[in-house]
Amino acid sequence: MSRPQVASVVEAPRFGDDWWQRGVVYQVYPRSFADTDGDGVGDLGGIIDHLDHLGRDGLGVDAIWLSPIYPSPGLDVGYDVSDHEGVDALFGTETDFDRLVEAAHRHGIRVVLDLVMNHTSDQHAWFAASRASRTGPYGDWYLWRDPAGTGPDGEPLPPNNWVSWFGGPAWTFEPQRGQFYHHTFLAEQPELNWRAPGVEAAQFQMVRGWLARGVDGFRLDVFNAFLKHPDLPANPTRRGSSAWSRLDHRYDVDQADLPALITRFRDILDEAPGRMSVGELFVGTTERAATLTTDRHLVFDWELLKRPWDAAAFRAAIRRRERAFGPARWPTIVLSNHDQPRHASRLAGSIGAAGPDREAIAKAAAVIELTMRGTPFLYYGEEIGLGDVDIPPDESVDPPASWVGPEFQWWDRSQARTPMPWSDGHGAGFSSGRPWLRLGLDWKDRNVASQRADPDSVLSCYRRLLAARREQPSLQDGSLELVELGDPSVLAYRRLGSGTEVLVTIAFDRGGATVRLPVPHREPAWRPIAGTRLDMPSRLAPKDPLRLRAFEALVLVAEP
Ligand code: NOJ
Repeated sequence: MSRPQVASVVEAPRFGDDWWQRGVVYQVYPRSFADTDGDGVGDLGGIIDHLDHLGRDGLGVDAIWLSPIYPSPGLDVGYDVSDHEGVDALFGTETDFDRLVEAAHRHGIRVVLDLVMNHTSDQHAWFAASRASRTGPYGDWYLWRDPAGTGPDGEPLPPNNWVSWFGGPAWTFEPQRGQFYHHTFLAEQPELNWRAPGVEAAQFQMVRGWLARGVDGFRLDVFNAFLKHPDLPANPTRRGSSAWSRLDHRYDVDQADLPALITRFRDILDEAPGRMSVGELFVGTTERAATLTTDRHLVFDWELLKRPWDAAAFRAAIRRRERAFGPARWPTIVLSNHDQPRHASRLAGSIGAAGPDREAIAKAAAVIELTMRGTPFLYYGEEIGLGDVDIPPDESVDPPASWVGPEFQWWDRSQARTPMPWSDGHGAGFSSGRPWLRLGLDWKDRNVASQRADPDSVLSCYRRLLAARREQPSLQDGSLELVELGDPSVLAYRRLGSGTEVLVTIAFDRGGATVRLPVPHREPAWRPIAGTRLDMPSRLAPKDPLRLRAFEALVLVAEP
């Protein structure tokens, strides 16, 4: 079942070691990025074709993270992997993948893969072998347990009270073995047993295989669920609004030996410089994310995803993150991803904003995302202000979305995974065929080509902000200090580092605000370098009042 390692096909890129701290990562959802073969599903060729949008002649991001590209029956849209070492034919060939890595590196873009190592698909060869024999070499590769007993009708009872994140019990009975297997997600996503020595060895061999093909890093899906308590005890119960929240997840996530496992994984990455890893925190707080962050491993926290468009809410989120991470740990910045409502819709929706106000909020949110302390992770489409798209239930491609009820509060993730509109031409330039998910109604106006031509578009604003971030070292690695400007509806913070000082101001209100800027620490004045509007003042003395229009944000650098 193991495959010979593929020889390195590209020269190691000559990138700085710490790019993953200073740089910006862009999440590509391959199914929806660009389709080259007309089957309506995005593919690797489509990513290659659009590297100019991502590289230095476009946004200038440092890396792309690809949501899973492995063979998969697709019940959790790729997060149910049936072969971690291959490329799904839906996306192209093995050669296409090597071409993508090579082409991305030529554009100065690193490639980060999404590793799903907590579970496999039930179609994975490991699971077939494990199901077939308790005593065979794969017998203990999954979490098998005998029934706790039999119910009134003679049915086998699950081994403990654990429940699935997607609703229902976290155990499914397998008649072939006469045992239950554990799954945190769908029954078709059986959980691997990381405590079986063969599992860790096989996972790490797979990691080495991708690194040998030139991959620069990994996003680890639900990494804090990899290890369970060895005895799989029942979780204590507590009050909550759903079956999941009524359990205190003491034994199925966040085990004490997780950091040691991540260290062993990182040791492999650190055999060569410049490789990054980021763990997706599963059900945890910002403080938990900070605890699991090390100097070599980033961890997503979800604080910013929960906040409405409100200066006080963002200030509180920033304060909480800064306190949790402290100066020694490096945070990530996430406003959207493939599991969450898109922030252009979410933030504007939180105050009932539409039309130009919605666009202004999308730009102002970009200012926050690209100037806070941490590594920003952009989600494809956000750079044109893409929003959630209404998907009729019969077109949904998110199975759990149909099980929603009082016990299972879920939303249809298809809404945030719709095709990227590249132009106002046929199929929005996404596909010559019928797209796997429908496009948003606004694609004729909201697309990359039209926004590229408009200096006042969301895309042009992203490009200016990314350029400012590249030019200002303090925006890359500086500390962050919240600043009060006397108007609570304005969020402001300073970034200090590498001898430069930057001030960021964001007006959250429809009415805008007039504020007085603080005195820079060393220099006499401020010079606006980027922001949400084009006609920026050229220089501002601290005593001058600064008028910020509705939802206007400004990035200023201290200057002599
Ligand atoms: C987290 C992924 O982001 C999500 O899309 C997926 O459903 C679960 N992990 C299970 O793999």
